[in-house]
Amino acid sequence: MEQQKRYGHFDDQNREYVITNPQTPWPWINYLGNEDFFSLISNTAGGYSFYKDAKFRRITRYRYNNVPMDNGGRYFYIKDGDTVWNPGWKPCKTPLDFYECRHGMSYTRVTGRKNGVEASVLFFVPLKKWCEVQKLTLKNESSEVKQLKLFSFEEWCLWNAATDMENFQRNFSTGEVEIEGSTIYHKTEYRERRNHYAFYHVNAPIQGFDTDRETFVGLYNEFANPDAVMEGKPRNSHAHGWSPIASHYIEVTLQPGESKDFVFLLGYIENEQDEKFEAPQVINKKKAHALIAELDTTEKVDKAFAELCALWDNLLNIYKVKTGNDKLDRMVNIWNQYQCMVTFNFSRSASFFESGVGRGMGFRDSNQDLVGFVHQIPPRARQRIIDIASTQFPDGGCYHQYQPLTKRGNNDIGGGFNDDPCWLIFGTVAYIKETGDFSILDEMVPFDNQPGTEVTLFDHLKISMNHVIENLGPHMLPLIGRADWNDCLNLNCFSWDPNESFQTTENVSEGTKAESLMIAGLFVVTGKDYVALCKKIGKADEAERMQKAVDAMIEAVKKHGWDGEWYLRAYDFYGRKIGSNECDEAKIFIESQGWCTMAEIGAEDGLVAKSLDSCKKYLECEHGMVLNNPAFSKYIYEYGEISSYPEGYKENAGIFCHNNPWVIIGECLAGRGNDAWSHYAKILPSYVEEKYQTLHKVEPYVNCQMVAGKDAFKPGEGKNSWLTGTAAWMWYTVSEFILGIKPDYDGIRIDPCLPETATDYTVQRKFRDAEYEITIRPNGAQKGVKQVIVDGKPIDGTVIPYSPGKHVVEATM
Ligand code: BGC
Ligand code: NOJ
Repeated sequence: MEQQKRYGHFDDQNREYVITNPQTPWPWINYLGNEDFFSLISNTAGGYSFYKDAKFRRITRYRYNNVPMDNGGRYFYIKDGDTVWNPGWKPCKTPLDFYECRHGMSYTRVTGRKNGVEASVLFFVPLKKWCEVQKLTLKNESSEVKQLKLFSFEEWCLWNAATDMENFQRNFSTGEVEIEGSTIYHKTEYRERRNHYAFYHVNAPIQGFDTDRETFVGLYNEFANPDAVMEGKPRNSHAHGWSPIASHYIEVTLQPGESKDFVFLLGYIENEQDEKFEAPQVINKKKAHALIAELDTTEKVDKAFAELCALWDNLLNIYKVKTGNDKLDRMVNIWNQYQCMVTFNFSRSASFFESGVGRGMGFRDSNQDLVGFVHQIPPRARQRIIDIASTQFPDGGCYHQYQPLTKRGNNDIGGGFNDDPCWLIFGTVAYIKETGDFSILDEMVPFDNQPGTEVTLFDHLKISMNHVIENLGPHMLPLIGRADWNDCLNLNCFSWDPNESFQTTENVSEGTKAESLMIAGLFVVTGKDYVALCKKIGKADEAERMQKAVDAMIEAVKKHGWDGEWYLRAYDFYGRKIGSNECDEAKIFIESQGWCTMAEIGAEDGLVAKSLDSCKKYLECEHGMVLNNPAFSKYIYEYGEISSYPEGYKENAGIFCHNNPWVIIGECLAGRGNDAWSHYAKILPSYVEEKYQTLHKVEPYVNCQMVAGKDAFKPGEGKNSWLTGTAAWMWYTVSEFILGIKPDYDGIRIDPCLPETATDYTVQRKFRDAEYEITIRPNGAQKGVKQVIVDGKPIDGTVIPYSPGKHVVEATM
């Protein structure tokens, strides 16, 4: 194997990834903010901030897919004599004497050194506050006095990120700012319907400022050489229209060895309609002043930072494993859980691959994300379930996405993705098992957010199940609708028009027949969960009714969904098989193998084992399992977007990391620990990090949605990092199925599935009001717990009964 260039390494002690070369193969980013105010930040401090919704409340501007890459961010320019440099290298790209970026849990620290000066910036969003803190520390490490000229820089977005990029006839005339002391206020559109503004402040006197981009940068310059900075002279410009920015100018004198802190704050404020102004046209700054006062000293900022770190200590103390394998432990204990929190917050809206304007919160996505997050902050998971269910329609169908700001279903995309309803059961069951809070089932939840339409959450679950059984096709398998989990298998689309959306176009002429085996498997898995839940809450009749539907589905799959060596993927509009040996291409698909093996359909007849073997034989490659094989080499009108992608990319035989865990869980249920582990390690970031930093290209500390598959031009190249269901599925797989610590209604079930080589390990698990220290002794077994001892006493079975307090558990396999 060719030795790959390295750009960084893990620092487990500090729970950081340390980037030591700014020219990463792609911007390696991090997320700041935990609830309302969010920022994306790259390893060169590029990125942007928004309040709740990356589309409707964008605070700073960003330019995607630009030249050069990663253009726009929070930049500090340091002019030291004739040299101008930035701590994060960009935008000036002046070679640094030292560069380091440490991405941690909801914070990033960027440090640069040049000519005896060190500039280190700590970026984070304090808990419960609507602002980003940028604590800049300048230190003179030389033996001479340093006279530095410091310029800060932020560029405002005119709030709506979509119109900001296109409606220039309006935008160029609306921009407005105010300047007061060391604070620059952005108040575009505040005069009319908006009641929010932003500000950029520094806790030191300034010797100048700029708010007009053209004046500061120069019309034909770049961020790398703004006129004002190059000349070392701010223009004190006041923006009217065009592109408002915020730049402070500070003259800093540093004695040898001296260091100074500056606290910069990027804040967001909302005012009541009748309290918008303090004088005609002058914004009411009361709340801004108050926020600034909370963070105007290094001490206050350090305290806020300590609070953030304490939050992460607590969150990461809920599930902690010690296996002795650093690569596994760091993913389980740190990065996988961290990524789950990020996907829970952002769904698929804003990353360096999702522009933040196209997509809100996904119905299926958010339900899945919940499973990765529910153990950490259950009340937020609870609220999320209610929000999601509120976008359901009375017939059980649902909006495919909703906007986080309004929590309303997104009409641009609508509904009709027939897997969506099942995911509500998946999310809700996970929540109840973690918390024991059955009361959520009695919550009154509306349809399509219409007041007066409320029914209980349980009824929402019921109609979700019903939606599947009321929409069966000719083989008694679920109708696929616009698509199932695979957004790109569009069996009712039939599009020759490149301007049509594959996702929303439906050219159905005579009533659809296309059916999905993925939904069939999903229905059986979630149906079994639903039946168990009904029994648990005393709804025996409902349990029986749904058990029959589940049994019927199992029969339908055995009868019409088995191809001989694997499960079929679907039937198309004309009733022809998809994912069959009879097909020319794409003979086998991963989704139905994953879901039907998780559902254990036909296990007794060897179907599960055969399906899992076929995944190894036809789908597996060095970098993971591809989605389908062989790849489509041409567009198939009856299949839609899936066949539009070049071979090996995205849904056309890419390694969709998201669905690898489904097969891994199938392996675990079948007790095949060696196979489960080998699939898992192939897509585990820490293993990839060790082998491939250049080829993999994207961040080595999180999973990406897709890695180019074996048919691709560059197998192993990753894309679409961060916001992917992979995070939650990797977590669910490793925490519950591989390491085998599974929350259940009455306690924790211990049921690991491990490679033969596994040695003893310990999991510390907080669960409701209990805390368990669980030691597992595999003894070379892949599966099967022989005995569980709780506080010195053997128990019957493998479920540790829940009881508050601390417990020591030992399980022998
Ligand atoms: C992508 C999918 C995505 C869908 C919806 C497709 O182009 O390949 O991964 O879910 O668009 O935005
Ligand atoms: C990404 C989407 O967010 C997810 O919902 C979908 O299941 C996958 N792409 C596969 O198409």
